[in-house]
Amino acid sequence: MVKDSYTTLIVTLRSFERTRSTDDVEVETSPDRQKAETPKEDPHHDLGDRQDGAGASPREPLFAAVLREVAAERERVALDDGASASRNFPYLPREVTADQVHLALEHDTNPFTNQPHTAQYKKILKARKTLPVFAHMAEFYKIFNKHQIIIMVGETGSGKTTQIPQFVAYSDLPHIKNKIVACTQTRRVAATAVAQRVADEMDVQLGQQVGYSIRFEDMTEQGTTFIKYMTDGILLRESMHDPELSRYSTIIIDDAHERTLATDILMGVLKTLARRRPDLKLIIMSATLDALKFQKYFAVSSDALPPLFKVPGRTHPVEVFYTLEEVSDYVEDAIRFVLEIHCTEEPGDILVFMTGEEEIEGVCHSIKREVKDLINAYPETVGPLECIPLYSWLPPQEQQRIFDPAPEADSPDGPPGRKVVVSTNIAESSLTIDGIVYVVDPGFSKQKVYNPNTRVESLLVSPISKESAWQRTGRAGRTRPGKCFRLYTEKYFMSELEEQTKPEILRSNLVSTVLMLVKAGIKDLVEFDYLDEPAPESLLKALEVLNHLAAVDDDGNLTTLGSIMADFPLDPQLSKMLIVSPEFKCSNEILTITAMLSVPSVWLRPSKKQEEADAAKLLFAVPGGDHLILLNVFNKYILNQHDKDWTWIHYLSAPALLQAVNVREQLERMMARFEVDLVSVQDQSEMSLSVKQALCCGFFMQVAHKVGGKRNYMTLNNQPVLLHPSCRLDTQPEWVIFNELVVTTRPFIRTVTGIRPEWLFKYANLYFDLRDWPDSETKRALMRVTKKTTGRSGARINKATRGGESGEVEELMRRLRTR
Ligand SMILES: Nc1ncnc2c1ncn2[C@@H]1O[C@H](COP(=O)(O)OP(=O)(O)OP(=O)(O)O)[C@@H](O)[C@H]1O
Ligand SMILES: [Mg+2]
Repeated sequence: MVKDSYTTLIVTLRSFERTRSTDDVEVETSPDRQKAETPKEDPHHDLGDRQDGAGASPREPLFAAVLREVAAERERVALDDGASASRNFPYLPREVTADQVHLALEHDTNPFTNQPHTAQYKKILKARKTLPVFAHMAEFYKIFNKHQIIIMVGETGSGKTTQIPQFVAYSDLPHIKNKIVACTQTRRVAATAVAQRVADEMDVQLGQQVGYSIRFEDMTEQGTTFIKYMTDGILLRESMHDPELSRYSTIIIDDAHERTLATDILMGVLKTLARRRPDLKLIIMSATLDALKFQKYFAVSSDALPPLFKVPGRTHPVEVFYTLEEVSDYVEDAIRFVLEIHCTEEPGDILVFMTGEEEIEGVCHSIKREVKDLINAYPETVGPLECIPLYSWLPPQEQQRIFDPAPEADSPDGPPGRKVVVSTNIAESSLTIDGIVYVVDPGFSKQKVYNPNTRVESLLVSPISKESAWQRTGRAGRTRPGKCFRLYTEKYFMSELEEQTKPEILRSNLVSTVLMLVKAGIKDLVEFDYLDEPAPESLLKALEVLNHLAAVDDDGNLTTLGSIMADFPLDPQLSKMLIVSPEFKCSNEILTITAMLSVPSVWLRPSKKQEEADAAKLLFAVPGGDHLILLNVFNKYILNQHDKDWTWIHYLSAPALLQAVNVREQLERMMARFEVDLVSVQDQSEMSLSVKQALCCGFFMQVAHKVGGKRNYMTLNNQPVLLHPSCRLDTQPEWVIFNELVVTTRPFIRTVTGIRPEWLFKYANLYFDLRDWPDSETKRALMRVTKKTTGRSGARINKATRGGESGEVEELMRRLRTR
């Protein structure tokens, strides 16, 4: 390891702020913009000299004085909602000034809990005061009190996500009106981490005044929580049930630049809602945003653009380095960089971006191995290094490890320890990982690509956008000055990278989204006010799939089945399968399988114990396929009473299994609400047949048949695929149903179960009306099936039905229609 070895790779060193300023978009700023106000740090000064109109003397506790004023104020604004404000909030909702808020923040008593502020609160408050957003509180209120919609841009780490919802809470006073301030996040890990941070900042317990809501996990208390961090998907789902979103006084769309599918649809929904609900306020925030585009889109009330609230400045500078030459192997180079930073740079943790689980586990493995050698060779200078993976598929408890402190030095005067987080782009936005000083950015991420014609959604490794690169850079320098090492040249950055990442809506399977829109009563999908319109063919294809699933009828109207499907927080295929499963007398089993498919993988395969893990997996093998194996694992886990030792011995993820239990319970409650019976067949082989038939009712479009050599299959769209190495099919059936198609080195099908092809005609007869199919090998294989079946039964299989409305499920459909 050579000191100064960056010189071989790095030339360009820039101040982050200087570089950013050249990228700034010149847009209209608010006319209200004023000089930033720096809050005073001396609480006595605030208590005494800066009055909030309550008439307190310098020595008198603020809230006692406030009490006197409240009575008078009540009279004055008897008809106003604010009249019922708690005594700790004498000011009027949405007329608050920064001075008043500073008074409350500096006070010894927490106005939300009436408890004394803790020492930790005061310490964090001191740090908050240094944030650029905090310094612009006065300006914020001037704009917020006056306008319904605000677009906000502030550097990464400036305090948008943590401070703005709190500012809004002081203004809206949501707790006295039983309202909530929502702040959306694009990722679960950000929603939970930020909620915890803000709970600490407000000196309250997480889940009480400040909470979060993510799929299958609601950490809020009704009537108590008034600041809620939630994924954009959860809020979108809520808008389906309550189109007025009446619980919310202000909705903040955070990291709007990410343009997830849910964010884009949500913005369309909120834009329309803002016209109906003038009392609802919206804030659209990001560090890297095409502000003018958003301002134009949200010009709802008149022709005037909503104001742009732009907060300049960063908390700490970040230096950006580029390589001199293009790198040939970004994985190898990233490993080398981490080791060099560890050996040569000042203490501080490292965040490395990789594209996916396999790459991340591989990098962690190599770093651990190489650092061991380095420590042996240079024990005096190289300290311990902890390598922590982070990807969305990891169970939440394991994701939390990224917040663990760095390892201690091995001896009191030994070299300090360091933590390395190796992550996908889930750590790219919003997250603050305390201690991260260095970011290594190879410039790639896996991006979703969808082909509506073949209905194949895959993740492809692609270059990131400039916007993503700046977000990654922003993960350094949050708690002190940082460095970002870009493993590409500056020329490449300037000329090759796109400005923004293409919005997800233009590259996604829209089936779930369209079902939600139809459920929300949006009939004209093409006319919906999108920020960027998806191709009409994508929308039509999605409608077609929903029609095959019997969720919408031929006229695009929601069926009763579709309405119930939309209520389940599941992909439409899964919800369809679950809802029809009682007709096959296996809803108990299908419920378990659905829960297991909705949580991160339960299989652990540590790099050093792969053989042992594979052998352990064999112990759960049952005839039929992976879905039945998942069922078996879950049942054994319950039999072993959630025993952690048992999961450990069997290489199973205890957190993932526990989550499956939790998800199953939640889905069971929903089934009870919709009167979907929970039933089981006792006989094992009968149960296996029933489960496979129920699978066909939901996943009949995800079918493949065997072609050529071992493990080779072909999907209905004639795409050659391989069985994923994790598949544990005991035989290689002619026809299989699969849960997902993943493209890594080649296209693989994962979680696979053998089926009888005649079921496809039985439960999805219209979809499998082969007259419309172009000639292909798959069509010929299916024709052979119909010939055989017709020959045997002497008649056509069934009358034409919409994927599931036949035979066994007819009765259920009838019941649903008449309900
Ligand atoms: N968990 C934490 N531990 C320590 N400091 C934190 C934590 N969370 C936030 N901070 C501090 O608060 C600052 C603001 O964080 P916040 O998430 O509000 O920034 P942001 O403007 O939303 O950034 P981004 O654009 O990256 O999402 C951070 O830069 C950091 O200094
Ligand atoms: Mg943020």
